[in-house]
Amino acid sequence: MLKPLLVLSAVVLFEIAVLAPVQTVAAGPLSQDAAAPANPVKPTAASQEKAKKMYAVDCVVCHGETGDGKTDLAKDMSMAVPNWTEPKVLASKSDQQLFDIIRKGKDKMPADDSGRAKDAEVWGLVTYIRDLAKNAPAAPAAPAVPTN
Ligand code: HEC
Repeated sequence: MLKPLLVLSAVVLFEIAVLAPVQTVAAGPLSQDAAAPANPVKPTAASQEKAKKMYAVDCVVCHGETGDGKTDLAKDMSMAVPNWTEPKVLASKSDQQLFDIIRKGKDKMPADDSGRAKDAEVWGLVTYIRDLAKNAPAAPAAPAVPTN
Protein backbone atom coordinates (compact mmCIF):
# COMPACT_ATOMS: atom_id res chain seq x y z
CA MET A 1 0.00 0.00 0.00
CA LEU A 2 2.88 2.30 0.78
CA LYS A 3 4.78 1.68 -2.42
CA PRO A 4 2.32 3.20 -4.92
CA LEU A 5 2.12 6.27 -2.70
CA LEU A 6 5.87 6.62 -2.65
CA VAL A 7 6.00 6.29 -6.39
CA LEU A 8 3.26 8.87 -6.76
CA SER A 9 4.99 11.39 -4.53
CA ALA A 10 8.23 10.77 -6.35
CA VAL A 11 6.45 11.60 -9.59
CA VAL A 12 4.91 14.72 -8.09
CA LEU A 13 8.26 15.85 -6.71
CA PHE A 14 9.82 15.24 -10.09
CA GLU A 15 7.18 17.35 -11.80
CA ILE A 16 7.68 20.17 -9.31
CA ALA A 17 11.42 20.03 -9.81
CA VAL A 18 11.00 20.10 -13.56
CA LEU A 19 8.41 22.86 -13.68
CA ALA A 20 10.30 25.11 -11.28
CA PRO A 21 12.40 27.75 -13.02
CA VAL A 22 15.58 26.11 -14.21
CA GLN A 23 18.72 27.77 -13.01
CA THR A 24 21.23 25.44 -14.46
CA VAL A 25 24.72 26.82 -14.64
CA ALA A 26 25.80 26.95 -18.25
CA ALA A 27 28.76 24.68 -18.85
CA GLY A 28 29.66 26.28 -22.16
CA PRO A 29 28.57 25.42 -25.68
CA LEU A 30 28.22 21.83 -26.78
CA SER A 31 30.08 20.44 -29.75
CA GLN A 32 29.37 22.36 -32.95
CA ASP A 33 27.78 19.49 -34.83
CA ALA A 34 24.86 19.55 -32.39
CA ALA A 35 23.57 22.57 -34.30
CA ALA A 36 21.89 21.89 -37.61
CA PRO A 37 22.43 24.80 -40.03
CA ALA A 38 18.86 26.05 -40.11
CA ASN A 39 18.35 26.09 -36.36
CA PRO A 40 19.07 29.70 -35.33
CA VAL A 41 19.64 28.85 -31.68
CA LYS A 42 23.05 27.54 -30.78
CA PRO A 43 22.66 24.80 -28.21
CA THR A 44 24.39 25.14 -24.87
CA ALA A 45 24.59 22.66 -22.03
CA ALA A 46 21.96 24.72 -20.22
CA SER A 47 19.58 24.94 -23.18
CA GLN A 48 19.77 21.21 -23.80
CA GLU A 49 19.31 20.41 -20.12
CA LYS A 50 16.13 22.47 -20.31
CA ALA A 51 15.04 20.74 -23.54
CA LYS A 52 15.60 17.35 -21.94
CA LYS A 53 13.35 18.31 -19.03
CA MET A 54 10.64 19.69 -21.31
CA TYR A 55 10.79 16.56 -23.42
CA ALA A 56 10.47 14.39 -20.31
CA VAL A 57 7.38 16.31 -19.17
CA ASP A 58 5.57 17.05 -22.43
CA CYS A 59 6.74 14.63 -25.07
CA VAL A 60 8.01 11.38 -23.61
CA VAL A 61 4.53 10.03 -23.00
CA CYS A 62 3.96 9.71 -26.75
CA HIS A 63 7.44 9.77 -28.27
CA GLY A 64 9.25 7.63 -25.70
CA GLU A 65 12.56 8.21 -23.96
CA THR A 66 14.62 7.10 -26.95
CA GLY A 67 12.28 8.80 -29.42
CA ASP A 68 11.24 5.53 -31.03
CA GLY A 69 7.53 6.33 -30.54
CA LYS A 70 6.76 2.85 -29.27
CA THR A 71 4.79 3.99 -26.23
CA ASP A 72 1.72 2.61 -24.53
CA LEU A 73 -0.16 5.83 -25.21
CA ALA A 74 0.65 5.66 -28.91
CA LYS A 75 -0.75 2.16 -28.94
CA ASP A 76 -3.81 3.00 -26.83
CA MET A 77 -4.68 5.99 -29.01
CA SER A 78 -3.78 4.21 -32.27
CA MET A 79 -1.35 7.00 -33.10
CA ALA A 80 1.31 6.67 -35.74
CA VAL A 81 4.16 8.22 -33.77
CA PRO A 82 7.30 8.59 -35.89
CA ASN A 83 10.35 6.55 -34.93
CA TRP A 84 13.19 9.06 -34.60
CA THR A 85 15.76 6.37 -33.95
CA GLU A 86 15.49 5.70 -37.70
CA PRO A 87 17.80 8.48 -38.94
CA LYS A 88 15.94 8.88 -42.22
CA VAL A 89 12.70 9.80 -40.46
CA LEU A 90 14.01 13.19 -39.34
CA ALA A 91 16.50 13.58 -42.17
CA SER A 92 13.63 14.31 -44.55
CA LYS A 93 12.43 17.27 -42.48
CA SER A 94 13.93 20.71 -42.05
CA ASP A 95 14.48 22.29 -38.67
CA GLN A 96 11.77 24.82 -39.50
CA GLN A 97 9.28 22.03 -40.22
CA LEU A 98 10.04 20.39 -36.89
CA PHE A 99 9.71 23.74 -35.14
CA ASP A 100 6.31 24.37 -36.76
CA ILE A 101 4.99 20.93 -35.83
CA ILE A 102 6.03 21.41 -32.20
CA ARG A 103 4.35 24.85 -32.15
CA LYS A 104 1.22 24.09 -34.14
CA GLY A 105 0.80 20.35 -33.77
CA LYS A 106 -0.14 17.95 -36.53
CA ASP A 107 -3.00 15.44 -36.55
CA LYS A 108 -2.88 13.76 -33.14
CA MET A 109 0.27 15.60 -32.17
CA PRO A 110 -0.90 18.34 -29.80
CA ALA A 111 0.11 21.97 -30.37
CA ASP A 112 2.28 23.63 -27.78
CA ASP A 113 0.04 25.94 -25.73
CA SER A 114 1.00 29.27 -27.21
CA GLY A 115 3.39 31.27 -25.11
CA ARG A 116 4.25 28.42 -22.79
CA ALA A 117 7.52 27.62 -24.44
CA LYS A 118 9.73 30.38 -25.75
CA ASP A 119 10.95 30.15 -29.35
CA ALA A 120 14.44 29.42 -28.12
CA GLU A 121 13.11 26.54 -26.05
CA VAL A 122 11.30 25.06 -29.04
CA TRP A 123 14.56 25.27 -31.01
CA GLY A 124 16.22 23.50 -28.10
CA LEU A 125 13.66 20.72 -28.48
CA VAL A 126 14.42 20.51 -32.21
CA THR A 127 18.10 20.00 -31.38
CA TYR A 128 17.23 17.51 -28.68
CA ILE A 129 15.08 15.45 -31.04
CA ARG A 130 17.77 15.45 -33.72
CA ASP A 131 20.28 14.28 -31.14
CA LEU A 132 17.99 11.37 -30.25
CA ALA A 133 18.36 10.15 -33.82
CA LYS A 134 22.12 10.64 -33.70
CA ASN A 135 22.53 8.76 -30.46
CA ALA A 136 20.41 5.84 -31.60
CA PRO A 137 22.09 2.58 -32.56
CA ALA A 138 23.11 2.70 -36.21
CA ALA A 139 21.00 -0.12 -37.60
CA PRO A 140 18.27 -2.20 -35.97
CA ALA A 141 19.86 -5.42 -37.24
CA ALA A 142 23.28 -4.61 -35.82
CA PRO A 143 24.33 -6.22 -32.54
CA ALA A 144 23.69 -4.01 -29.52
CA VAL A 145 27.10 -2.41 -29.15
CA PRO A 146 27.17 0.91 -27.31
CA THR A 147 28.39 3.61 -29.70
CA ASN A 148 29.23 6.26 -27.15
C1 HEC B 1 -0.37 12.96 -27.59
C2 HEC B 1 0.85 12.42 -28.13
C3 HEC B 1 2.00 13.36 -28.48
C4 HEC B 1 2.64 14.24 -27.65
C5 HEC B 1 2.34 14.54 -26.19
C6 HEC B 1 3.69 14.83 -28.44
N1 HEC B 1 3.67 14.35 -29.72
FE1 HEC B 1 4.91 14.86 -31.24
N2 HEC B 1 3.88 13.68 -32.51
C7 HEC B 1 2.81 12.87 -32.16
C8 HEC B 1 2.30 12.22 -33.36
C9 HEC B 1 1.13 11.25 -33.42
C10 HEC B 1 3.09 12.69 -34.44
C11 HEC B 1 2.94 12.34 -35.91
C12 HEC B 1 2.04 13.39 -36.52
C13 HEC B 1 1.75 13.10 -37.96
O1 HEC B 1 2.65 13.26 -38.79
O2 HEC B 1 0.64 12.68 -38.23
C14 HEC B 1 4.08 13.60 -33.85
C15 HEC B 1 5.03 14.28 -34.60
C16 HEC B 1 5.99 15.10 -34.07
C17 HEC B 1 7.02 15.77 -34.84
C18 HEC B 1 7.19 15.69 -36.34
C19 HEC B 1 8.39 14.85 -36.65
C20 HEC B 1 8.14 13.74 -37.57
O3 HEC B 1 9.04 12.85 -37.62
O4 HEC B 1 7.10 13.70 -38.25
C21 HEC B 1 7.76 16.48 -33.96
C22 HEC B 1 8.98 17.34 -34.28
C23 HEC B 1 7.21 16.26 -32.65
N3 HEC B 1 6.14 15.41 -32.75
C24 HEC B 1 7.73 16.81 -31.49
C25 HEC B 1 7.12 16.72 -30.25
C26 HEC B 1 7.58 17.41 -29.09
C27 HEC B 1 8.84 18.25 -29.02
C28 HEC B 1 6.68 17.14 -28.10
C29 HEC B 1 6.69 17.69 -26.69
C30 HEC B 1 6.70 19.15 -26.57
C31 HEC B 1 5.67 16.27 -28.65
N4 HEC B 1 5.97 16.03 -29.95
C32 HEC B 1 4.57 15.77 -27.95
C33 HEC B 1 2.29 12.70 -30.91
C34 HEC B 1 2.66 13.43 -29.79
